Amino acid sequence: MSINVDPIRRNVKFGLPQDKALTWNDEGLHVTQFFNTLSIFFPAGERFFIQSVRNYRDEITDPHLKEQISAFIGQEGFHTREHEAYNAALIAAGMPIGTLDTIVVKLLEAVKKSPRSFQLAATVALEHLTAVLGDMLLSNPELLQNADERYAAIWKWHAIEETEHKAVCFDAYEQVLGKGVNAYVQRTAAFVIANALFWSLFLPFYAVMLGRSGGLTSLRGWLKVGNVLFGKPGVMRRVLPDWADFFRPGFHPWMHDNRQFLETAQALTDKIATFQAQAQAQVAVAVAVPAKRAVNH
Ligand SMILES: [Fe+2]
Ligand SMILES: [Fe+2]
Repeated sequence: MSINVDPIRRNVKFGLPQDKALTWNDEGLHVTQFFNTLSIFFPAGERFFIQSVRNYRDEITDPHLKEQISAFIGQEGFHTREHEAYNAALIAAGMPIGTLDTIVVKLLEAVKKSPRSFQLAATVALEHLTAVLGDMLLSNPELLQNADERYAAIWKWHAIEETEHKAVCFDAYEQVLGKGVNAYVQRTAAFVIANALFWSLFLPFYAVMLGRSGGLTSLRGWLKVGNVLFGKPGVMRRVLPDWADFFRPGFHPWMHDNRQFLETAQALTDKIATFQAQAQAQVAVAVAVPAKRAVNH
């Protein structure tokens, strides 16, 4: 059975509380900063994904795939916007996001000098990584169970949409480069290089984030995050087989059928809408109170 999922654009805003940027996850600072460090990569990374697919816009002929690509671009655009707001909260908490983001931007500028087929292969590779991380999050709801509800919501929303569009770039890649040996070698080489570069930036960034927030020398914190990721429940350890499936010659993202998570999207979107309504109500009160005072004087 071939699975085909159409991504849905959801123009949502979270109104993340800035004062909780370093404390939003009740698993402690080390787990919170693990997520926060991931957020640093999204604005520049997702702009790169969008551009690498746009490079082939004129060569994609299938109208259904074209529609899926525009929805993919729409979703990644909203992810960029909301993670910029997230990263602004990290800046307000004293994290050196500007410096770290510049490093990611410079690296991606260098990758943009490579052939556009390699850029698309790198996007396909990183989309697999985000799909695997998204699946990790959705399969382990306890990771966000007692977290601040707005931070929990942005991560769930992002994970659901990464799942929803996980095959779009892959299908575009196969349409323009085919399924032959060249296409296989290029996407797997890109996967090795993309993972090596990503993790070799992620780990020092994570150390910088912990250094700035006072957790670098906490053995207890390291044991906690090590246990969550690689011990028990070991969320990263458990997704390694799915991650490695990218090397299979006949790999397709929907060989991991996790569409059940998409069924939670509507309820989550409804919940996010209540955040926006609350924010609007607060603004209305803030405007009304001084106006009332002015009338009373
Ligand atoms: Fe995204
Ligand atoms: Fe994505």
